Amino acid sequence: MDACVVRIPAAPETRDIGAFDAPVLISGGVCSNLEALTAFLDAAGRAGIPPARIVHTGDVVAYGADPAGAAERLRQSGMHAIQGNVEESLARGRPECGCGFDPGSPCDTLSADWYGYADARIGAGLRAWMGGLPHQLVFTMAGRRIRVVHGGVTEISRFLYPSTPDRDFEAEFAAASADIVIAGHGSIPFTKRLGARIWHNSGALGLPANDGTPRVWYSRLEPDGDGVRFTHVPLAYDHATARRKMLDAGLPRGYADALSTGLWPSLDVLPAAEQKRTGQPLELAA
Ligand SMILES: [Fe+2]
Repeated sequence: MDACVVRIPAAPETRDIGAFDAPVLISGGVCSNLEALTAFLDAAGRAGIPPARIVHTGDVVAYGADPAGAAERLRQSGMHAIQGNVEESLARGRPECGCGFDPGSPCDTLSADWYGYADARIGAGLRAWMGGLPHQLVFTMAGRRIRVVHGGVTEISRFLYPSTPDRDFEAEFAAASADIVIAGHGSIPFTKRLGARIWHNSGALGLPANDGTPRVWYSRLEPDGDGVRFTHVPLAYDHATARRKMLDAGLPRGYADALSTGLWPSLDVLPAAEQKRTGQPLELAA
């Protein structure tokens, strides 16, 4: 990785939210997508899962048209949430998103547009709320200790994907004090098993998975015997409205179109294996 990439070390704040013996929903980055967040909360309501059993893994603000609306909706929902790199950057008044993109890359260039748009619309109250969120959570289910992080355990903006070498996941688990880690940031849903340990990413709620469909993803975990079962759940929502609002706001067309095409405007954060899967609809087993 380029030595010039801005690295924000993960802060040590970890909040213990207790033990759960009933299903928990995991939401990845809402990414300023109010339509997707609304659809998700509606789905949670239909499933009878209260906000006290929902976890957001950070980046409530990113590409979309409603940074303040989405952040306020999530805050008022009362669900558990951690800081992603975007919450951290906004709370600290940083001039850029802290996403970990290579300088000058397409993602880096596009982020200047959407981050500036969001930065101009998030007021002091939401910044204070973001800055007061923990960076990580821990909880237990079926006797398993589970840690929730944004990117990696040791680095908030670390990108980890299914093809990432096992040794990289081993290093993360070595710092986790847990044998299950739930992460976000990368926007590709997957569940990777390394022996008895599990690394899980729900995907992003506010951005499709680059699989050629407009679906977004969340996940459900629940006790299953003496273990924990993860289920990836696709979510259909009003992506046409979310896209139109982005275009009307003058946000980058590439991300706006991605909401409907399911194809990202740039693949530069993805390893080669995930780049090759571009446009292939995901089929995720539980
Ligand atoms: Fe992130």
